[in-house]
Amino acid sequence: MEDSLARLLRGVYESGEAHDLKTTDRRRRMLNITPDTGLFLSILVRATGARRVLEIGTSNGYSTIWIAEALRQRGGKVVSVEVSPEKEELASKNIGASGLSNLVDLHQGDARSFLRTLSLHSFDLVFMDAERTEYLDYWGEVDRALKPGGVLVVDNAVEPKPEELVDFFARVNESGRYLGQVLHVGKGEFLAVKLETT
Ligand SMILES: C[S@@+](CC[C@H](N)C(=O)[O-])C[C@H]1O[C@@H](n2cnc3c(N)ncnc32)[C@H](O)[C@@H]1O
Repeated sequence: MEDSLARLLRGVYESGEAHDLKTTDRRRRMLNITPDTGLFLSILVRATGARRVLEIGTSNGYSTIWIAEALRQRGGKVVSVEVSPEKEELASKNIGASGLSNLVDLHQGDARSFLRTLSLHSFDLVFMDAERTEYLDYWGEVDRALKPGGVLVVDNAVEPKPEELVDFFARVNESGRYLGQVLHVGKGEFLAVKLETT
């Protein structure tokens, strides 16, 4: 990654952290992934050869920029949905500054309705980083949109409230169609592959 983009990413992350420190309303916080999670996503996108990535929870675009940068050489799209109009606007500005807008489709709205618009098996990788208590509501559509052989990544598998994800991970594992495990990267990443036999 070139120095200017690394600097931009650091700036987006640091301003997100500073904002979150002085913001008591959780819904207004940026809640970015950690930088090592960004690197992990970048490696995963490159290693899997993913071209179509779905992100649920854009915030200020920090993770979106990591993913878009990883797509740049091969080409592709990261489609990202964010419910907050203010955050979506900020993400659009940050992504514009990164020079990666051509690799990103931003959608402002509730993931629950947006996910219903997605086509069957239209994504190679899905990154879930939105409202954890809603993940069971997202699941049917996420499962439908992810192609067999595709990869699912779920942030916050270890912190801050792993109990919120117990039922969701049970649903994924009990489907018998995914092979997954929690990795101790950042705040804990649940990484699963959708089995090809489905
Ligand atoms: C943890 S933050 C995402 C951080 C971002 N992935 C990053 O690391 O840069 C979660 C985001 O999900 C958004 N969100 C919460 N519920 C949502 C929903 N139902 N649909 C779409 N976005 C939602 C929140 O507004 C918040 O910006």
